Amino acid sequence: MLVPATRIKSHRIAGLLLGFLLILASVCMFFIAHHHHALLRKEISLTKLGGRPLQGESGSDVVDKIYDGSFISNVLSGSEPFPAHNRNERQQLKFLPGTLAMNSAEALQHCYVDMGHYRDHFDKLFSVQVSVADKYKLIYRNVPKSASSSSRHIMKDFFGGEDSRLKHRKLNEYVLNHNYTLVSFIRDPLDRFYSSYDEAFLRMGPWWGAGEFVHEKPALHRLYESNKHKVEPYPYLYEGMKTMEDFRKLYCPSELLEQNYILCNDANTIDDGDLTRRFEQFVRDYDGRKPFDSHLRLQVAFLVYNSRLNGAPLPITYLYNASEADKGWSDIANDKGIEIPKEDMVFGRKSSRRFNLNLVSNETKRKICQIVALDYCCLNLKLPEACKFTNDSYDGVFCVLEKWDRVQDQHTSKTREIVIHSGRRSSNS
Ligand SMILES: *[C@@H]1O[C@H](CO)[C@@H](O)[C@H](O)[C@H]1NC(C)=O
Ligand SMILES: *[C@@H]1O[C@H](CO)[C@@H](O)[C@H](O)[C@H]1NC(C)=O
Ligand SMILES: *[C@@H]1O[C@H](CO)[C@@H](O)[C@H](O)[C@H]1NC(C)=O
Ligand SMILES: *[C@@H]1O[C@H](CO)[C@@H](O)[C@H](O)[C@H]1NC(C)=O
Repeated sequence: MLVPATRIKSHRIAGLLLGFLLILASVCMFFIAHHHHALLRKEISLTKLGGRPLQGESGSDVVDKIYDGSFISNVLSGSEPFPAHNRNERQQLKFLPGTLAMNSAEALQHCYVDMGHYRDHFDKLFSVQVSVADKYKLIYRNVPKSASSSSRHIMKDFFGGEDSRLKHRKLNEYVLNHNYTLVSFIRDPLDRFYSSYDEAFLRMGPWWGAGEFVHEKPALHRLYESNKHKVEPYPYLYEGMKTMEDFRKLYCPSELLEQNYILCNDANTIDDGDLTRRFEQFVRDYDGRKPFDSHLRLQVAFLVYNSRLNGAPLPITYLYNASEADKGWSDIANDKGIEIPKEDMVFGRKSSRRFNLNLVSNETKRKICQIVALDYCCLNLKLPEACKFTNDSYDGVFCVLEKWDRVQDQHTSKTREIVIHSGRRSSNS
């Protein structure tokens, strides 16, 4: 169809005008979007400081490659650059627990604890409970269920240690400015979880709510009353039990119970699976975020500062193996020029757990490894056999190395740009 020239001309002008308007509009949109993006970025970096909700749940946006631990170690030391990545993608590299070329205390210095996600692993106090021995410039930080009670005795008896609560700045000052040695003991996280649960179960039973203990052990009674809501999500835990006696019957041989229940503590359990079933159900239902007793808190939670902003690591000099605590304390004593007689180093309960450990399934072990993954990653500990990454449908535990724009450690004003945390290979998280 033929169109008169004038109409073409006016069409052209209209077209040009429209085009111009469109360009103008898109320039405006660009500025708005850019500004919005900048705002968003700001918000993201603030959330990072405040704790992102994604920790432990990430995985979908991580490339499925597992990096070699020695490469990750090089990136952490700065001798290799963080690999290039696509813009707008989270800068994450996966690696396996226990593969880094560094000890636990060194790995801890790169640890990031999401204070939003792990809030309930910390108490309300912002100071750190330690034992301080000025004479030896030695500070011991205790991690419950990791050789802690015996270690506190050793600090007191052999180093003249005094219990103390130190503020972050004070603790950093001792170690960084006055050359104090800060030590602690850590343990295989799966093994510790069994022990933690065993203790937590005993402490949160209904026997603390009524009966003889109310007056005999008022402190434990109060602890129970203020925390019992935390076991309510797991009603099967104490089903059919009212008294401590009901519980003891399930794990202690009757001939010992008749003599003196104290003997139960050193006996092997007689649990036929009843207590283990409760344990396994709990592990299935527990997402690791709200421990029902302080003994179930992660080890890492005792090794970083409790801060609203970020869980910056304590300036730990060395982390010893709690399963060989006597060896660790010998080394410390040696370093400080004293000697601790062998017979004075008695650690932990020798007996088995109250529930039957032999009946715990591999599936349960794997779930526990996920629950305590942050301990495996931040302390650079190898996974137990049952939890090792396998190429099947099992969602294995892995660690994440993540690069951020900038993460400021408010206590040392160190900038931690690359951090370690945990993740899991998962389809259903
Ligand atoms: C700091 O303490 C370590 C270990 O206790 C010791 O070997 C070292 O000589 C001390 N350094 C200074 C500067 O005092
Ligand atoms: C700690 O000691 C136990 C017992 O000797 C040992 O099996 C384990 O491998 C040690 N852990 C580390 C991280 O060295
Ligand atoms: C559990 O895992 C261990 C170690 O990986 C393996 O040897 C054992 O056969 C597994 N048990 C079952 C019942 O699959
Ligand atoms: C698992 O192994 C199979 C066969 O060896 C392979 O085809 C598949 O890509 C592997 N999957 C993963 C996630 O590595």
